[in-house]
Amino acid sequence: MKKIILLAALGILGLAACKTTVNKAPENVEKNLMKRADSVLALMSLDEKIGQLNQFSGDGELTGPVALRPDLLQSIRDGKVGSMLNINGAEYTRKIQKIAVEESRLKIPLIFGYDVIHGYKTIFPIPLGESASWDPEAVEKAAHIAATEAASAGQHWTFAPMVDIARDPRWGRIMEGSGEDPYLGSQLAVARIKGFQGTSLSDKTTILACAKHYAGYGNAQAGRDYYTTDISENSLREVYLPPFKAAAEAGVATFMSAFNDLNGIPATGNKDLIHDILKTEWAYKGMVVSDWGSISEMIAHGIATNKYEAGDLAFNAGVDMDMEGTVYLTEMKNLLKDDKITTAQIDESVRRILRLKFMLGLFDDPYRYSNPDYEKQTLLKPGFIDAARDAARKSFVLLKNDNQYLPLNPSVKSIALIGPASDAAADMIGNWSGRGEVKDVITLKSALETRLGAGKVLYARGAGFNDGDKAGFAEAIAAARRAEVIIAACGEAGMMSGESMSRADISIPGVQEDLIMELAKLGKPMILVLFNGRPLILTKIIGSVPAVLEAWIPGTMAGPALCDILFGEYNPSGKLPVTFPYALGQIPIFYNHKNSGRPGSQDKKFTSRYLDVPNDPLFPFGFGLSYTQFAYNNLNLNESSIIDDKPLEVRVDVKNTGTVAGTETVQLYIRDLVGSVTRPVKELKGFKKVLLKAGEVQTISFTVTKEDLSFYNSRNVWGTEPGKFTIFVGTNSQNTIEAGFELK
Ligand code: GLC
Repeated sequence: MKKIILLAALGILGLAACKTTVNKAPENVEKNLMKRADSVLALMSLDEKIGQLNQFSGDGELTGPVALRPDLLQSIRDGKVGSMLNINGAEYTRKIQKIAVEESRLKIPLIFGYDVIHGYKTIFPIPLGESASWDPEAVEKAAHIAATEAASAGQHWTFAPMVDIARDPRWGRIMEGSGEDPYLGSQLAVARIKGFQGTSLSDKTTILACAKHYAGYGNAQAGRDYYTTDISENSLREVYLPPFKAAAEAGVATFMSAFNDLNGIPATGNKDLIHDILKTEWAYKGMVVSDWGSISEMIAHGIATNKYEAGDLAFNAGVDMDMEGTVYLTEMKNLLKDDKITTAQIDESVRRILRLKFMLGLFDDPYRYSNPDYEKQTLLKPGFIDAARDAARKSFVLLKNDNQYLPLNPSVKSIALIGPASDAAADMIGNWSGRGEVKDVITLKSALETRLGAGKVLYARGAGFNDGDKAGFAEAIAAARRAEVIIAACGEAGMMSGESMSRADISIPGVQEDLIMELAKLGKPMILVLFNGRPLILTKIIGSVPAVLEAWIPGTMAGPALCDILFGEYNPSGKLPVTFPYALGQIPIFYNHKNSGRPGSQDKKFTSRYLDVPNDPLFPFGFGLSYTQFAYNNLNLNESSIIDDKPLEVRVDVKNTGTVAGTETVQLYIRDLVGSVTRPVKELKGFKKVLLKAGEVQTISFTVTKEDLSFYNSRNVWGTEPGKFTIFVGTNSQNTIEAGFELK
């Protein structure tokens, strides 16, 4: 028997090692891959097939409510486990894999999965911060480094990228994604998938990626995690699905179904969403895993009375693998007996899973990713550390710089460094920080001391992140009085965003605002460096602080990256991937909103407005300053109308009118003035980063195609409609120059 399995599996060797991405394998490779999978499938008992559909978490790190924990190792021996998550390290994965491939009947290797969200050991900025770079190449590079480290430590699969569009900063998981825009979100989702999966999953520097959480999870009502979502078909298709569609087209290996109730049917049991759209309309060939326990949670949703019904819903919706739910393991045989599901369906799901194991090369060498020596050589390589520093620099967004206090003079006499984030290593790597370790983090305090000498850095914590204790104020203010410059390092603790970390009040927490205002009263050059996993309401302090730098959660190299910016070695180039509201009461507020029948402002009665706050945000989507300035002129369209499939050429001159070189992200938006459904007042359709020397002008060009002008019309059919459009080009979603054209 053993020999048969080995031969069947080995037959795949020549195929699996081919350079293929999951959904784009050449026809012949795909056909043969599936044939070989069938040859193994044919040897499997029903129990062993069901076992492949089951994923358990290791006992190392639990990332969800602890499910009923059977004897894991015996389950593996019995062929009841297809995948494990949270099993880390070359040594540990080898140990567990050994049980599967030496002690089970069919010796089918396990897939090991882990949340490699913004780095494995070398921690990069949180995805929301990384997205502020608007730099797909840098994002792809970071993902590739994360994959290389994770693969060296025995991982085969990351549950990333999270591609949920989020327009509500109360939702803690906004930190895990790319913000509010479907176009930017799609571009960066594809970049992360390419980074994780490379061109061949059998390379030892690539791992399976996972587009999650499918779908609509970021639309959680009231910003509460796991909460209800109610999304029209048109909005689902226009806003929340595009990054998932882009991920599927990019060949993402897996999808993860979401926790949320979507229009009355939980996403994990939503046949329209998974079977009809993903697996049929998009012809997706990868594998769908549930989120942690999201199958059995359909009982709590009140759409299943028991695990049997929950399993029926999920499996018929198209969920292939049950993460930590033990639903498939216990209910699938009964569902089969009662003709609720078929053997063919089970085989299809098992085939999808086996296909990935072959593509990873696990049948060729189940221990290929579990080499402790290679792991030691790979983790925290200098090149990776440098990349993390560069990614952090690119993520920072300069929100304000009155009096040009930034960049600081390198010969500054003394800096008062105040605030809870000054020397908080754990809060620099934040939530979902994988195997990142505090000991590897360089904080702002230590980086400043290294650069200036400890004597020049007057440090006083001043306050905690989120308590009411002002006892540290006096010492902080005394230090600030003695210093030439004040740097306030404030914001959210690293674990105040992420899963199940929604906040109803998104101001700077605790008494930090009071501390900032007290420091500002000293009237000295002052820079507020913000550390946060979501947009915050800065309205109370923004007028008092001359300079504000948004640093998000910057990762292992937080301190050196910040010093590069603060002392001008790197000119900030980040742009907001998400709107910063003026007031909590404006939420949800986003740039690509509809016009309404009464567009208005605060001073216009009978229009869409508030009595007490403006309609505009504090900082709009796409906003970010530089140490230099850029001017936009000569926006030119090569045609005044687009006919047939001829693309429109758009050109604009961008000039660096300042005194230092800088990188600008030129943004292109469109507006469809009239449609069979109301259309957003702006939609991002392109962006280009350009480095300009002082005084340099460059002509930046874009091509706008009919595909860019397509949308889901009143019957939810994708396509274009003739009519007038406006093109906007500029430095953010509000500050643009425009020109009109017509689609004939
Ligand atoms: C969590 C998260 C999901 C993660 C999974 C495994 O509950 O929702 O994003 O990948 O469980 O840790």
